[in-house]
Amino acid sequence: MEHQCIIILDFGGQYSHLIARRVREAGVYCLVKSYKTPPRELAAMRPSGIILTGGPNSVYEESSPHCSKEVLELGVPVLGICYGAQLMAYLLGGKVATAPVGEYGRIRLTADAAQSLPLPCGEFTVWMSHKDYISEPPDGFIVTAKTNDCPTAAMANFEKNLYAVQFHPEVQHTEHGQEILEAFLKGICACRGDWEMKGYVEQTIQALREKIGDRKVICAMSGGVDSTVAAVMVHKAVGKQLTNIFVDHGLMRKNEGDEVERIATQTFDMNFIRVNAADIYFEKLKGVEEPERKRRIIGEEFIRVFEREAEKIGKVGFLVQGTIYPDVIESGSGDSAVIKSHHNVGALPDVVDFDEIVEPLRMLFKDEVRRAGLELGIPEELVWRQPFPGPGLGVRILGEVTPEKADTLREADAIFREELEAYYFPNGRDPALSPYPLDAVPSQYFAALTNMRSVGVMGDFRTYSSAIALRAVNTNDFMTADFVQIPYEVLSKVSSRIVNEVPGVNRVLYDITPKPPATIEME
Ligand code: XMP
Repeated sequence: MEHQCIIILDFGGQYSHLIARRVREAGVYCLVKSYKTPPRELAAMRPSGIILTGGPNSVYEESSPHCSKEVLELGVPVLGICYGAQLMAYLLGGKVATAPVGEYGRIRLTADAAQSLPLPCGEFTVWMSHKDYISEPPDGFIVTAKTNDCPTAAMANFEKNLYAVQFHPEVQHTEHGQEILEAFLKGICACRGDWEMKGYVEQTIQALREKIGDRKVICAMSGGVDSTVAAVMVHKAVGKQLTNIFVDHGLMRKNEGDEVERIATQTFDMNFIRVNAADIYFEKLKGVEEPERKRRIIGEEFIRVFEREAEKIGKVGFLVQGTIYPDVIESGSGDSAVIKSHHNVGALPDVVDFDEIVEPLRMLFKDEVRRAGLELGIPEELVWRQPFPGPGLGVRILGEVTPEKADTLREADAIFREELEAYYFPNGRDPALSPYPLDAVPSQYFAALTNMRSVGVMGDFRTYSSAIALRAVNTNDFMTADFVQIPYEVLSKVSSRIVNEVPGVNRVLYDITPKPPATIEME
């Protein structure tokens, strides 16, 4: 069956990624392309439809991003959103001007044309963010919706299959938003909505097999979701031609190193080299207190350890990178990959002798990587693993890092996570299965060992011991975050277990700072 695809032509709007995610949620494969992509190239991709995104500019400004009018003449249905709507009007001879009254936020809209597809008829709330508006639609277009301050809130040329909406159907606050997108995708572009992970995973494995041939592959497995899913895909494609290297820096969470090893060797029977480098790391970190220096040392040591192992293997055909789609589109054009700027993989291409990079997750969003992981049979605990920084517990032990402190933190952190998961995720780690609303459950939660000691009393004795800080935040994108309002009874249980079960801890604190001004990690 032919692979259907929607092209999202990106004009720099803040919601461009979100549009792509919504389209894929509708079961339709899509790609984000720069507005500069030549129409011929777009046509060659044989898209089922094209979506023009929003953007911060005014279409009538000299320097604003324009695509060629030919994009609207390919005979493919086009939906313009916000700036994309105005650009469609402008390119086809309509008028765009500064609106007497801009619209920002939730606005009531009336879709009153009898056949207003892709809009449902009637009055509903939409999310707007514009200072310009379409003051005169081009010839051949009819106005399909308006608001109090926007006479052309939506327009359509049914004959040419061109549609435009001034509002943002992709954001949550637009009522019927997903319905509108699906009406365009399925009703107008005739997409089947049958894009699913199983087929994608199979196709990718097949393509990897053809690309890799009989050459050798090397992968740095960190135990994180992306590198594990990437490694398992390559393993399914070429088996033992792939060697995974896992550097255990002694700053993993409780049982984590063993868990990674078990999955790699028992669940999947992969070639797996575990380097237990804890002693070297602790030696290098002795006496170092400054956060950035700690990060640098941990990052550099990773590269050295990896380099030594890679040297033993010698020249390989491919280096696996866990680049995911947001990294690809963030690089601007959608055409060139950014190698993740994580300290822990960023420098790898310099120390491995390889011909090419292979990126099996290049086309997937994070939630799709997780679905692919489940499809591949990777255990749930790993698939739903929360983000864990490359430097590991090294940035959660404030001040100097020692093996004893790492042990203390590991125990306290395991207790906190166990209690929080029992409360928030009783039905499994998929946050969608939580009995609590998505914006109230922790997205990332961990303990940190502060460099503070304080006085306490245990039994009849005075103690002078460490304080553990708990951190639990809710966030969509990890750029901003708020602390989670954990019920007191849960906090109370965690606190009591930690001081009773973890030697050397006599105080438990809860961090109630959002990001900004704090960051999620403490160092
Ligand atoms: P901050 O602390 O900057 O963290 O608010 C934002 C997100 O990034 C994660 N993080 C890292 N991830 N290598 C990583 O792979 C790192 O060095 C690193 N530092 C922070 C952090 O856990 C949070 O999810």
